[in-house]
Amino acid sequence: MRKTFFFSLVILTSIFIISSSFEERNAEIKTKASLGKKLFSEKILSKDSSVSCASCHIPAYAFADTVAFSVGIAGKLTKRNTPSVLNMKNRPYYFWDGRAATLEEQSLMPIQNPDEMDLSVDEAVKRLNQSSEYKNIFQKIFKQQPSAKNLAAAFAAYEQTLETVDSKFDDWSNNLKKFTAAEERGRELFVGDKAKCFDCHRMEDFTTDEFKNIGLYNAKQLNDAGLYERTKKETDKGKFKTPGLRNIAVTAPYMHNGMFKTLEEVVEYYNDPSKIVSNCINIDDALKKPLGLTDNEKKDLATFLKTLTDKKYIRK
Ligand code: HEC
Ligand code: HEC
Repeated sequence: MRKTFFFSLVILTSIFIISSSFEERNAEIKTKASLGKKLFSEKILSKDSSVSCASCHIPAYAFADTVAFSVGIAGKLTKRNTPSVLNMKNRPYYFWDGRAATLEEQSLMPIQNPDEMDLSVDEAVKRLNQSSEYKNIFQKIFKQQPSAKNLAAAFAAYEQTLETVDSKFDDWSNNLKKFTAAEERGRELFVGDKAKCFDCHRMEDFTTDEFKNIGLYNAKQLNDAGLYERTKKETDKGKFKTPGLRNIAVTAPYMHNGMFKTLEEVVEYYNDPSKIVSNCINIDDALKKPLGLTDNEKKDLATFLKTLTDKKYIRK
């Protein structure tokens, strides 16, 4: 009798300790966004609990990856380069081919993607419901148990907090800091008619959010047709969404296929695409003729691009 009493006391105390440590650990999780942040690093949302969103969207690298193709479930590689998920709030669609219309819709796709997390949404929701920790947090925040809808809402709320507006460029545009001579020459090139970057990389996040073809599709070695894969319209062959350029110095390698390792290589490419890719299909009019940048101008452009890094990502 005594023994049973003692035994149940031990069990009760350990349950109490475990649940209060959950509480303590999760005390700061009071909003959808903070729950989304926790879920972003949650590996139980992948089939064998080995991969989370943060495995590919690495926070220290401005939420991009450092390799051309990321490693998902069971060592499988993604088909495209992992983009940063910073500054997503004002985007009209998501993915290189725009196949998701909202962050909510987007967030459930990597969970199901067989190369990424490979878990059905039903199973993901079931796992969250089996965790007393998550059940409590969802109840506290949504007044509901975990569901596909509130899971997506939490991810979207978190991603909407990931805006960056504190770069040297922002200080320059608010008259708080001066550019060096090279940065200023680079800026003038960037917005000017010679380099034409501003044709496509405009607005506060340096993108017009349009689909464009910069010449990285030739139906041979470069065979990702981008937007065409979704629309099957001939004129969409080789078009990809124009990415924003904030924090670009931190998110190498570049392009939908990660084929350029440095910003200098990117600028070299734009200067004369045909030197690097032969027989490209449907290249944009703006890039049909070589830009004719001098070596110093190329350097200045790359120097300007480095002013777009938010201070929290600048490594000292
Ligand atoms: C295995 C690597 C991997 C994992 C895990 C992963 N992603 Fe991604 N993510 C990618 C790749 C690759 C793309 C681009 C794919 C494409 O456009 O076809 C992408 C695209 C995105 C985009 C669109 C960005 C843009 O510029 O349009 C968002 C947002 C995003 N992921 C969020 C998430 C969230 C949220 C999770 C977790 C639920 C997640 N990702 C898990 C690799 C990954
Ligand atoms: C015609 C529109 C257009 C013009 C002009 C243009 N870009 Fe782009 N840019 C794009 C598109 C579209 C992509 C993505 C292409 C892909 O992955 O196939 C891109 C990608 C990039 C990337 C890589 C982004 C990433 O996250 O991987 C950088 C850096 C870049 N551009 C800089 C520049 C600079 C510098 C200039 C001027 C010399 C320029 N762009 C001119 C449309 C354009």
